[in-house]
Amino acid sequence: MNLVRLAAFAVEDRRVLVRVDFNVPLRPDGEIADDTRIRSSLPTIRHLLERGAGVILGSHLGRPRGRPDPQLRLDRVARRLSELLGQDVLKLDGVIEPEVARAATGVARGQAVLLENLRFYPGEEANDPAFARALAGLADVYVNDAFGTAHRAHASTAGVAEHLPALAGLLMAKEIEALEQLLGEPSRPYVAVLGGSKVADKLPILKNLLARVDVMLVGGGMANAFLAVTGHGVGDSRVEPDAPREATRFLTAAAKTGKRVDLPVDVVVAEAIAPDAAFRVVGVDGVPAGWVVVDIGPETQRRFGQTVGEAATVFWNGPLGIAEIEPFAGGTEAMARAVAACPGHTVVGGGDSVAALERLGLTRAIGHVSTGGGATLEFLEGKELPGVACLLREG
Ligand code: 3PG
Repeated sequence: MNLVRLAAFAVEDRRVLVRVDFNVPLRPDGEIADDTRIRSSLPTIRHLLERGAGVILGSHLGRPRGRPDPQLRLDRVARRLSELLGQDVLKLDGVIEPEVARAATGVARGQAVLLENLRFYPGEEANDPAFARALAGLADVYVNDAFGTAHRAHASTAGVAEHLPALAGLLMAKEIEALEQLLGEPSRPYVAVLGGSKVADKLPILKNLLARVDVMLVGGGMANAFLAVTGHGVGDSRVEPDAPREATRFLTAAAKTGKRVDLPVDVVVAEAIAPDAAFRVVGVDGVPAGWVVVDIGPETQRRFGQTVGEAATVFWNGPLGIAEIEPFAGGTEAMARAVAACPGHTVVGGGDSVAALERLGLTRAIGHVSTGGGATLEFLEGKELPGVACLLREG
């Protein structure tokens, strides 16, 4: 892909607005559960600071839907970034307010500031031209390093690029180069493992991805929708309103192409989603009323692990259970081990999947660890991402 690259641009004494994806997984107490996404942006931030730029960082965290949410402020992220960078990053308490804009535009060369959560402002997700212009007004140059958010056409990932020279950050370029390998002629069998809870987001994408892979293994919150439409009770498990319809469409498409889609055969169920809740393993026909599916079961772990072990290419996105709660992390951790042991080319994306690899010290055994979840999925289905399209050289 013909990206406009950061390395080719003189940034000395320029104010550079860097869109990063610091949407890190949080623990129930609000602490950062995994800082991979912060660490992954350090090369771009250091590159700019070392070359005398003043750096204005912007990110979202969670889905506050256009309103301030104290739980989703970026103060903790700024502290962690300061530690990792070895220099203070000043956290600003807004984005476009005059006093914030003054502080941001006043950033000294070799210094970095972090704006407040961009999604506290409705203009961000609406890609409101006025919000995009206000962001652009903070800087001379725009760098997008937020590969994880490149599938969103938001003000900070797309709109702002209409007003400033727009460059791909080092992480953005690295992700695209690594993932492009899977778009060409991947070695087969090519197995995709899909989990996670953003079911309504991901289901429409899966159909296109299915055309590219040989086998799809489905677990986590995603599997509940499939189990629900294949005649299995899922107790009190949350199934998003549109998910059953999308799951049915997907299974119909899969049946037409003859592609293999494996669902769990057993699951862990719990009385509640809490670390101290009672839990047990049941077959998919035995989910008790009022209980919640929280993980894949051991037989599913074994079957999925075997399929992954025989693959020549594996792409894994999304946890197979509620991995942030230790007793329900077994399926996700088993998958992390299976993918790490697979001798084929492996790509893992998505905050919780990557967090599991980190916890187990297995990250180095993976071919490419992507900072993207949905963005990686959309890229691998062959879609043009708005946050990438605006970084391409014309002609
Ligand atoms: C992600 O975690 O996939 C990205 O940060 C994008 O977040 P979103 O799905 O809330 O847009």
